[in-house]
Amino acid sequence: MQTSLFGGADEPPPPGDAAPVGAAGSPEPGEEAAAAEPGWPPAPAGAETPLQPSLLDLAGSEEPGWRRLARALGRQRAGAAAGAAAGAAAAPAAPPSAVPADHPLRRLWPSGRPPEGLGARQRAQALEALRGAALGCTYCPLRAGCRGVVFGEGDPAARLVLVGEGPGATEDELGRPFVGRAGELLDRILEAAGFPRPSVFITNVVMCRPPGNRTPSEAEMAACRPWLEAKLELIRPDLVVALGSTAARALVDPAARITRLRGQWVERRGRRILPTYHPAALLRDPSKKREVWSDFQAVRDAYRALPPRPLREAGA
Ligand code: URA
Repeated sequence: MQTSLFGGADEPPPPGDAAPVGAAGSPEPGEEAAAAEPGWPPAPAGAETPLQPSLLDLAGSEEPGWRRLARALGRQRAGAAAGAAAGAAAAPAAPPSAVPADHPLRRLWPSGRPPEGLGARQRAQALEALRGAALGCTYCPLRAGCRGVVFGEGDPAARLVLVGEGPGATEDELGRPFVGRAGELLDRILEAAGFPRPSVFITNVVMCRPPGNRTPSEAEMAACRPWLEAKLELIRPDLVVALGSTAARALVDPAARITRLRGQWVERRGRRILPTYHPAALLRDPSKKREVWSDFQAVRDAYRALPPRPLREAGA
């Protein structure tokens, strides 16, 4: 029988059992309200990569890529606002996937994507190569303000990947994701749902700690995006949990509001994604535990219902 996070199998949480965080010092990443930052600009209906035209136009410019991304996002947002004012339908936008010409990922793979046709063992090796390249990334200004890049960790062939917002102070110090207070709670949630931490892969939308644990900007998210996409392409999870609003905006809908999206599976690029509240939000508001527990029960059920992996895939 599964023990629940809150004491008994499948039981709802007791109220008021966690102290609020952020009373002193920086808030934990993921703690800020969804409304703290505007969403990605809406894309034209059916557009797979809404930012592509503007990003491709920018190739060859002398400006650093992350700055060009920021400017492109600003232009897109202005265009989207004009469209909305004119009554245009705001379709949920897929996040950008164009890899800028000067992005450091292209030094590892000139196409900006992992090679195709790799077997499971080769993908695990490629993930390590990706880690090595990412650890040296200085592409956006976040790197100058943190101790190091936090790539992520776990099973390179995990069928379940969890994506948070960005490293906090403890993560920055230790170079590992989710090892502070929010991480301890995440570990308990995972255990209770039947997922030992090493059986999943845990990473973040941005790999460098934003100063004061602020929410990463759109440009910072876009700059780190190619690394995240490459990780997901190599790990090939069946299920992804988006922890909090930043992850939901990066993975599901640029205009996502976590309160609306949480608990609903959505499919993006062949992956089933479940947005839920960030563990830091639970530390702040324990009443959210009930919903998160129900979301992780849904993850557990979906995981159990996955078809077995083909033998060639499963066996390295
Ligand atoms: N919050 C996050 O979003 N990620 C971490 O790695 C730690 C806390």
